[in-house]
Amino acid sequence: MRSLIGAYLPYRLREGFDDDLPHSSPAATLRVVKAHPIFARFYDRLARAMWPKEVEHRTELMAGLRGRVLEVGAGTGLNFQLYPEGVDVVAVEPEPNMARRAVEREAEAPVRVRLLRAAAEALPFRDGSFDAAVLSLVFCSVLDARAAASELRRVLRAGGEVRIYEHVRSENPRHAWWQDRITPIWRRINAGCRPNRDTAARLRAAGFDVEVRRIPIGPPSPARPHILGVARPRERG
Ligand SMILES: C[S@@+](CC[C@H](N)C(=O)[O-])C[C@H]1O[C@@H](n2cnc3c(N)ncnc32)[C@H](O)[C@@H]1O
Repeated sequence: MRSLIGAYLPYRLREGFDDDLPHSSPAATLRVVKAHPIFARFYDRLARAMWPKEVEHRTELMAGLRGRVLEVGAGTGLNFQLYPEGVDVVAVEPEPNMARRAVEREAEAPVRVRLLRAAAEALPFRDGSFDAAVLSLVFCSVLDARAAASELRRVLRAGGEVRIYEHVRSENPRHAWWQDRITPIWRRINAGCRPNRDTAARLRAAGFDVEVRRIPIGPPSPARPHILGVARPRERG
């Protein structure tokens, strides 16, 4: 079974890269993420085409980050170039084709980025080990958003923050109705992406205070609107 998993994962899998960062569990990751080679190729092209429209928002997403930062679902690593100097980045990406491209982009980063294969639902890190986390168009795709939100809460230190740039369920009932109708087919052709997911509500339910604003971007699509902002762990009462 292990050799089967190894054959399925052609990209560089880093294990034990840091004394206090245990390596990912391939079995846990494979349970929640399938390989999507066609989507990975398509996504990288799309994201590069969207870059001029998005760079302002992505730059704001990363501005002022400090300390040890976790990027969840880093995809093809497009954000790596935007990290401010001095941060120590650990990026997790479970999908092998996305991760292969992300490994190439590590070299373009102005800071050290360590890429690890892991899923948001089973983060292989100790409690409170990060100062900040970055969510960039990823929460729509995680299989179990409740588990992922609770994992984020666990690995962030008290006083830490989650930077959020996500597309979410619309507040417009008519648009949300369409998002609900299209989600089953959209998920199939977009590697599990659910345009009707209310990510801010999911994070609130997991114990975060969420401050986001809606931002207009790109042509009309089920994957609108986008939110940009921050979530902070609520103090446990
Ligand atoms: C739309 S892409 C966004 C990639 C990148 N964050 C960006 O901003 O361009 C969604 C990413 O989430 C990843 N993903 C899907 N399920 C995941 C999970 N359970 N845990 C972590 N990442 C996941 C996918 O493999 C994919 O790379």
